[in-house]
Amino acid sequence: MDHFLYRDGRLMAEDVDLAAIASEIGTPFYCYSAATLVRHYQLFDEALSGLDHLVCFAMKSLSNLAVLKLLGDLGAGMDVVSGGEYARAKAAGVTGDRIVFSGVGKTREEMALALTGGIRQFNVESEPELRALSEVASGLGKTAPITLRVNPDVDAKTHEKIATGRKQDKFGVPIDRARDIYALAASLPGIEVVGVDVHIGSQLTSLDPFEQAYLKIAELTRQLRADGHDIRRLDLGGGLGIPYARSNEAPPLPSDYGALIKRTVGDLGCEIEIEPGRLISGNAGVLVAKVIYVKEESDRRWIIVDAAMNDMIRPAMYGAHHDVVTLIEPEAGVALEEADIVGPVCESGDTFARSRPLPPLKEGDLIAFRSAGAYGAVMSSEYNSRPLVPEVLVKGDHSAVIRPRPTIDEMLGRDTLPEWL
Ligand code: LLP
Repeated sequence: MDHFLYRDGRLMAEDVDLAAIASEIGTPFYCYSAATLVRHYQLFDEALSGLDHLVCFAMKSLSNLAVLKLLGDLGAGMDVVSGGEYARAKAAGVTGDRIVFSGVGKTREEMALALTGGIRQFNVESEPELRALSEVASGLGKTAPITLRVNPDVDAKTHEKIATGRKQDKFGVPIDRARDIYALAASLPGIEVVGVDVHIGSQLTSLDPFEQAYLKIAELTRQLRADGHDIRRLDLGGGLGIPYARSNEAPPLPSDYGALIKRTVGDLGCEIEIEPGRLISGNAGVLVAKVIYVKEESDRRWIIVDAAMNDMIRPAMYGAHHDVVTLIEPEAGVALEEADIVGPVCESGDTFARSRPLPPLKEGDLIAFRSAGAYGAVMSSEYNSRPLVPEVLVKGDHSAVIRPRPTIDEMLGRDTLPEWL
């Protein structure tokens, strides 16, 4: 459920008319609904009620400071994967004891930053990383709380590029090596083992892979405890999928997911962390764009809009589907026409939708790509020297630009010319 609905024929973000934002700041822009973000966070929080738990928002999905502050103020933790994300979480007011640090390539500088600023735990992904962390922590006179990210060799049955829990994937330590590496961890200075971590992929639309993975983690936890480790925390990762197309079957709900967690690992008495990103932010955002031209040639129709693959890469990168709606509600019974929706970038991959049935569109019309809150703005770039797309947050009838569109001069001003040129 989200808060982008038609009212009096106009697409609203909560109580704000999206077309009014467009006339104020121009297009394209991302718009997020605070009520949707809050509701989705709370669904996870409620799903884990009865368990000692922390919902750590995977901020890689949407990392604007205003969004982080909104969620952080509710008590959310943050899952960060870089020094930059760590700094963002802190700048949004999230304390170190609510920040978990994931990622296969944490640098020593990033480790030092988090150890100095405070960190709930590092989710360590390899033996060399463990050794480096031990050195950095000891050097600083600190102790690094860690989990090992275990690769359970489970197929998440999702897009190839976002499956992370099979043995051929770069993530985590193989589950059959975990006990050895835990033994090593326990012997290293500056390291304190606190738990186990797993994350098998993103946009999962079935609970089965989660169940397989979590049962393996439960078994491993028992073995590790028998080996003498004080396993008191399980980080179960993120990955629960969202319905990108309204016509599709709905993926499991956070409440189903919570029940699965209770069933598979609930009896271990561990504190539970989860790292959802997409389900919190995905349907909380839209990307609004304007039709520049409608080009019709040899029985094809292209709707050329002013957003492009640099603003939202998901269709080009993963072949992802995003529903498209017009900002003015189409009249009931209007005949739909098939068209491709494309951006101005000089690649055929700059295509948002192919042969999509749409109400008739003309130059100047406004459209919105739905489910664009997650992995939208954060993956944008300035390819083709298109300034970064701005972001707007709406809460009730308030709306604010939370990242302005850079001017062309600001964009150019970041380049420097060597004096010898
Ligand atoms: N935890 C870890 C360690 C992760 O790597 C990820 C996502 C998450 C949590 C959050 O997963 P979520 O709940 O959002 O599914 N750019 C891709 C998705 C990449 C996901 C990367 N890792 C896309 O646009 O579909």
